[in-house]
Amino acid sequence: MRVLITGGYGCIGAWVVRKLIDRGLDEIWVYDLAYQPRRLALLLDQTELARVRHIDGDVTDLDRLVGVLREYRVERILHLAALQVPFCQADPVAGARVNVVGTITVFEAVRRLMPQLKQVVYASSVAVYGPQERYADRPVPEHVPLLPATLYGGYKVCNELNARVYWQDHGIASVGLRPWAVYGVGRDQGLTSGPTKAIKAAAVGRSYRVGYGGWQALQYAGDVAELFVRFLLAELQGAAVYNLRGSVVTMDQFLEVLTRLEPRARELISYEPVQLAIAYDLDDRALCTALPDFAYTPLEVGVRETFERFRALHAAGRLSLEDLDR
Ligand SMILES: NC(=O)c1ccc[n+]([C@@H]2O[C@H](COP(=O)([O-])OP(=O)(O)OC[C@H]3O[C@@H](n4cnc5c(N)ncnc54)[C@H](O)[C@@H]3O)[C@@H](O)[C@H]2O)c1
Repeated sequence: MRVLITGGYGCIGAWVVRKLIDRGLDEIWVYDLAYQPRRLALLLDQTELARVRHIDGDVTDLDRLVGVLREYRVERILHLAALQVPFCQADPVAGARVNVVGTITVFEAVRRLMPQLKQVVYASSVAVYGPQERYADRPVPEHVPLLPATLYGGYKVCNELNARVYWQDHGIASVGLRPWAVYGVGRDQGLTSGPTKAIKAAAVGRSYRVGYGGWQALQYAGDVAELFVRFLLAELQGAAVYNLRGSVVTMDQFLEVLTRLEPRARELISYEPVQLAIAYDLDDRALCTALPDFAYTPLEVGVRETFERFRALHAAGRLSLEDLDR
């Protein structure tokens, strides 16, 4: 199967490529702004990396995207390209262009190429919700009034609504997934990259202050990639969106797990005592019903794998620490 991933050089994209290669897929195109395989190189060996096909392209450029999808006879598309928080706050117009216009561009490209392509899997976000206290139901199900507290969340709501219209008007099926804070090797930017940076800092003996605290839902990057891949390879119907859950923990509980691996984390890692204004207690029963044999990696296991991988990369002189200064 011929697969194209927009924003495929990002953290989740790199893990998706890893999972697709593990499944024996050979025809994988990464469509991203420029060739920047540094995250992929953390997860693939040189031979695997050489098998991934690269295409420079802006996800808002409809002619370019249609041309590429047609030329390479792509059969499935995963849309991950986006600007995260805080980049959307810094430049809201650019945020709307990439996150909203970029998503419309993907749906429109699929519409033009039907029936070669007929469905879209894309990244939404739990930022479609406002703060936990705004919701009477706990855990919070998918279909409640969405009250995003950020522009980024507003863009993602817009995408979910537009996906429904593309199903209604053109029969283009879709699945949107709503992660909270993805952690794992390669997560080096965005507001919720703090837990991963804390693991990295502890692994190399550096201090680090996470930019938020309180409750969060942590999802291992390998699990999130696995979910995207399962939907990408399935035949879809309708315009579904799914909450993800993962490990719902306080920052203190997360740091306890990290401290069991590296006792110095107690002194090295601190955090801002600020609860993010995003619901964290989410109902993922719809996802569990859609994919009954999927299981989340326990937090202890995901944190340990990430910690050990960072240590090994550091010992091999292959780990950039630049993100700890941002
Ligand atoms: N990481 C998380 O915790 C998290 C949580 C919720 C939702 N999401 C969503 O998941 C998706 C992937 O997240 P990630 O963590 O891999 O992000 P990331 O920031 O690591 O990667 C994003 C990628 O998109 C690319 N990109 C940006 N603008 C582009 C454009 N105009 N055209 C083509 N490519 C462009 C970037 O170069 C980068 O490679 C995003 O849609 C994000 O909003 C992520």
